[in-house]
Amino acid sequence: MSNAQRILITAALPYANAPIHLGHLAGAYLPADIYARFQRLRGRDVLFLCGSDEHGVAITLAADKEKVPPEVIVDRYHTMDKEAFEKFGMTFDNYSRTSIPLHHATALEFLLDFHRRGILTEKNEKQLYDEKANMFLPDRYVEGTCPVCGNTDARGDQCEQCGTFLDPLQLLNPRSKITGDTPVVRETTHLYFPLGAYQARLEEYVQKSDEADGWKENVLQYCRGWFKEGLEDRAVTRDLNWGVKIPLPGYEKKVVYVWFDAVLGYISSAKEWALRVGRPDAWKDYWLRPDTKYVAFIGKDNVVFHTIVFPAMLMAWNDGGGDRYVLPANVPANEFLNYKGQKFSKSRGWGIDLQDFLGKYPADPLRYSLAAGLPEYRDSDFTWKDFQARNNNELADILGNFINRTLAFAVRAFDNAVPARGPMGELDRGILSLLEGTPPAAAEAYEHYRFRDGLMEVMNLARGANKYFNDSEPWKTVKSDPARCATTINISLQIARALALLMSPVIPGACERIWRMLDIPGEAARGSWDSAGESALQAGHRLGTAGILFTKIEESMIESDSVVPPGPPALPPGAAPEKITIDDFRKVDLRVGKVLRCEPVAKSEKLLKLQVEVGTEQRQIIAGVARHYRPEDLVGKLVVVVFNLRPATMMKEESHGMVLAASDAAGKLVIVSPESAVESGASVK
Ligand code: 2FM
Ligand code: ZN
Repeated sequence: MSNAQRILITAALPYANAPIHLGHLAGAYLPADIYARFQRLRGRDVLFLCGSDEHGVAITLAADKEKVPPEVIVDRYHTMDKEAFEKFGMTFDNYSRTSIPLHHATALEFLLDFHRRGILTEKNEKQLYDEKANMFLPDRYVEGTCPVCGNTDARGDQCEQCGTFLDPLQLLNPRSKITGDTPVVRETTHLYFPLGAYQARLEEYVQKSDEADGWKENVLQYCRGWFKEGLEDRAVTRDLNWGVKIPLPGYEKKVVYVWFDAVLGYISSAKEWALRVGRPDAWKDYWLRPDTKYVAFIGKDNVVFHTIVFPAMLMAWNDGGGDRYVLPANVPANEFLNYKGQKFSKSRGWGIDLQDFLGKYPADPLRYSLAAGLPEYRDSDFTWKDFQARNNNELADILGNFINRTLAFAVRAFDNAVPARGPMGELDRGILSLLEGTPPAAAEAYEHYRFRDGLMEVMNLARGANKYFNDSEPWKTVKSDPARCATTINISLQIARALALLMSPVIPGACERIWRMLDIPGEAARGSWDSAGESALQAGHRLGTAGILFTKIEESMIESDSVVPPGPPALPPGAAPEKITIDDFRKVDLRVGKVLRCEPVAKSEKLLKLQVEVGTEQRQIIAGVARHYRPEDLVGKLVVVVFNLRPATMMKEESHGMVLAASDAAGKLVIVSPESAVESGASVK
């Protein structure tokens, strides 16, 4: 074990119920990876952990919808998410999953220890019960109106619109997500964790940690809000049969509350890593040593669990007198990344999923454009235009251009080797001072979780270097003053090396290519950040082969940023459609259908796949309404179907008919539905 400062880094464990989308990346994963890569370059001893969160109703709801067991859902998305993360360049030391026995044992170790030590209390609580489905409704099985902001689609655990942490009983007009019925209130027994008893210590912990490591203002605001409201006991068990089973009498049909076990997933992921590397106790070097710095990266919707619930659980454990765990030194949470004005959301099928994206573009431009626009202080928007501009105008025109022109010059004028420096002038000294100043300036930003600023510092060096190259005019001095020309190219090559090191946390793929073009042994990712300001390339060092670093993205390759409703183009103003006869109209067989099931179409942002009952027949219809309706909004809805439309295939899915919709003034598609209940199959005339 090295003597370097140990840094334990975790990124929120995503629910294994849907693909990872760009919103996740901007919220937690990309900053976590930039931080981990940066700290490794600084020589720190980093352990970077993540894994799938495979319990809770987020999973059982997805399983219910597809009518498959939860295992099918978690296996599918765990594999998919793990692969997508790898392709994106995440450098997790371990990507675990919470359904493994090692994790169940860890979660129970905590729960049973708390139970044995009398920390948990058993209480009867009132809970919503679905009489038709014959079950207690876990919080996410209930939806209703948020008592704080009036959002009519608030979830039982939290309102996504205003972020309020809710109890299902607080919802106005609650409805069961299973049957759609209004649930009744019944009593059930649960174990409670006394969060309120830890409030004073938690307040002190947040304050001290902020003083020591500068917490983000948005995170502190959330904490202050909860402290002001007063922390209350939280149930840590649930009436559900998917999750960590509890070996206590009376709890046979209950499981550990998903958030209680999920945060402990960070510990079991470390244990799994230690076993994998053949040092079963190595996890303790990170988790159980007071001099470890622990940083937990999350999105803003997870703040309470990481700044309050998890620290309180660790305090409770540490009070037991045995092993003592480190608490998060910081919880850098980002705001949301939006897409076309709305929050990315996997449950609503809104956004761009990572696998899709990486099928079209490499990871580096995505990492770069997300990093440059991270929602660090407020929500930000992903736009295709911005993505294209960041790639073309910054990566290709600034960074790529500088590296390529430098290397091209070295080949042409210096036999592809680093020329010895001649005398130095004003321009040379100026750029060398920028070179020396950039690593500490960018490090200062990264150490304080200001990733946009850090990246900007590094890109400023690339900008400055381009200007230096222009102003030095090596294409002239190569003839008029070869010694000066040699100085320019020597310094430019030193900067190319620096950029490969300093950009590598953000665009690792391109930086390794630069490293090879410079023919430096090893990898940029294993180099030293602090050495980036030095002129480390020796005169005479032979360079490798230059190549294209970034490909420009053409206008025709990117999607439009405007929300264009599918369907025929609107008629020009004043134009009247061609008149048809009643017989023409009768050729169209319109029928009423009822949507039985609905799901997103893989790799499509626009399409939904509907299974529609039309009389005695069931048909699959693909409708271009994914940007306007969530799949669950359509289930049970009566629609008007063009029944005799020729079948078509869209995104590899067959469509047998079409669903009628009108677009409103804002371009939102509104599905046409009979005004009152009509039997499915009825003819529309
Ligand atoms: O919001 C989510 O996707 C949660 N699964 C995050 C859990 S973070 C930690 F507790 F594991
Ligand atoms: Zn609300």
